[in-house]
Amino acid sequence: MVVRVAFTPAEALAAPLGIVIDVLRATSTITQALASGYRRVLCFAEVEEARAFAADGVVLGGERNAVRIAGFDFGNSPREFAAEPAGETLALTTTNGTRLLLAAAARCDEVIVASLLNLDAVLRAVRLSGAAAVVILCAGVAGEFALDDAYVAGRIAEALGAEATDSAVAAIRLAHTWPSAEEALSASRSAANLREAGLGADVTWCARESVLDVVPRYRGMVGPAGEVTL
Ligand code: MLT
Repeated sequence: MVVRVAFTPAEALAAPLGIVIDVLRATSTITQALASGYRRVLCFAEVEEARAFAADGVVLGGERNAVRIAGFDFGNSPREFAAEPAGETLALTTTNGTRLLLAAAARCDEVIVASLLNLDAVLRAVRLSGAAAVVILCAGVAGEFALDDAYVAGRIAEALGAEATDSAVAAIRLAHTWPSAEEALSASRSAANLREAGLGADVTWCARESVLDVVPRYRGMVGPAGEVTL
């Protein structure tokens, strides 16, 4: 298996298996919501698309500039989705993460959703997939490289023990820079944005490793949304 890393969404790499990462916070939130019992997460690029999907049993979640969207039930904090589900479907729209999921779905045969919360489960799924090539796709921040996603990419690339391209080697080396996941995530611009919005507790929450034994997978399009289920 060959593993490569796309550090920003502009690097439109494709592979039979794509692993999407927006550890602060979209992919952590998707993972937490499905582990808590939401039946599916619909990933929308645009606020109005998600709003138009509002119905009984559909919970609207998402952020712009890290803050809950006006009129939505929840923001994009995984802590908000740790309780009993408030509906069976979470319609989610975030600045970078849900868009990355849609872009990955357009290029890769299979797409799985990774975070630190489900790290071991993701590694197991990738090993079992038998895919000859894997691309780890990082959401970044507003199109730019983000330390938090690159750190998780490095952790996955190293643990897979696969043939690493230069991008994967770079991610692995970068991940060794910090003694802990929380320190790595905390060093990022994404974490600073969350702290500025009073959401610093999400960084600690998302830095916990392998506490959820689930692997969210992209299943297909539902209108403009990418459907993700376990
Ligand atoms: C994103 O998709 O950009 C994020 O997950 C940002 C956030 O949660 O604030």
